[in-house]
Amino acid sequence: MKRVHQRLLDWYETQGRHALPWRNTDNMYHIYLSEIMLQQTQVNRVRDEYYPQFLEKFPSLEVLAQAPQEQVLSAWSGLGYYSRARNLHKTAQIVQTELPKTQEELLKLPGIGRYTASAICSFGHEQAIPVVDTNIARVIKRYFALLEAKESLVWEKATPFVNAQAPRAHNLALMDLGSLVCLPKNPKCTECPLEADCLGKEEAELYTQRKKTVYESLDLFYGICIRNEKIALEISKEKMYKDMLVLPRVEPLEEDFLTVFKHSYTKYRLQVHLYKLEAVDENVLWVDIDTLEDAPISSLTKKALISLHLRAPLKPLVPLRGKKKR
Ligand code: ADE
Repeated sequence: MKRVHQRLLDWYETQGRHALPWRNTDNMYHIYLSEIMLQQTQVNRVRDEYYPQFLEKFPSLEVLAQAPQEQVLSAWSGLGYYSRARNLHKTAQIVQTELPKTQEELLKLPGIGRYTASAICSFGHEQAIPVVDTNIARVIKRYFALLEAKESLVWEKATPFVNAQAPRAHNLALMDLGSLVCLPKNPKCTECPLEADCLGKEEAELYTQRKKTVYESLDLFYGICIRNEKIALEISKEKMYKDMLVLPRVEPLEEDFLTVFKHSYTKYRLQVHLYKLEAVDENVLWVDIDTLEDAPISSLTKKALISLHLRAPLKPLVPLRGKKKR
C-alpha cells in the first residue's frame, strides 16, 4: 500500500490542481463555502465568478449570519439549486462564528451531508478519513473492481485505502485523478499512477455509473407587468425557487402573448412562454428594473428579462464553449 500511496502523491504533486483557491486556505468557512458551491457546479464557474464574489460580499460566517436572506440568494443568483444558499445561510446563523470540527457535529447542520462533512474535515483539518464524491467513487470502484457497488461499499473500501500520513493530499489526489484521468469514458489508464494495481482497468467502462437522467418537458406561462420602470415579481413558494423573486404565473391568453424561449433547469426541459399582464395580485413586489442586477432572481427570470430587452446580458449565462471546427 505504501508504494501505491507514494505513486498517487507523486502524481498529485506534478499533475494536481494546486492553484484552486480553496485548496490554498485554512479558513474553514472558505473551504465549507467552496464545497457547497462545487456541488452541481463546474469548478471554473465557482473559481472565477461565484466564490470570489460571494466572499467579497460575505467575508466571514458572522457577516453571512447577519445578512438578510434576500442578499444571500442574490449572491447565488444564476447558480441554481438555491436550497444550497438557504442552508448555507441557516448554518451560518446556527454556528455564528465557527464551524464544528467533527463529522458528527457537522452532519447535524442544514445542507451538510456525508460528503461535505468529510471534505471539510479532510481538506480543512487533515483528518484521516475517506472522502467520496462521484469522481472518487469511480476511481475506487475501478481500482477495487467493485461492480454494481452501493455507495456504502465504496466508502467502506475507501476507508482502509486512506493515507494516514497525508490524508488531505491523498483525497485531493483521488479527486483529481477522477476528474482528469480516470474518466467515465475513455479513461487515460496509461497516465494513471494506480494502473499497475488497478483491478478494473481491463473493462474500465463497466464501472461508470450510468444513471440516465430522465428529463421532463414542461411548459411554463409567466406574466410581464411593468409600471413606472418597475416590474411585478413574486416571492416564490415553489420548492425549487423558494424565496427567490419570480415572475407571476398566468393563464395563457393568446392576445397577450409576447415571446417563448427554451430553458434547461435540473431535470427540466422548459418552454417558457411570456404574456402581457395588466392586473396583478396586490402581493406582488415592484422591483426597479435598474436594480434587477442585485435581486435574487434565477437564470430563467434573467433570460425572460433579456428576451424582452429589459436586462442587458452583461455576461453569458452559460459559459460559451469553443465549438470544434471540422
Ligand atoms: N478541491 C476541494 N474540494 C473540491 C471539489 N469539491 N471539487 C474540486 N476541487 C476541490
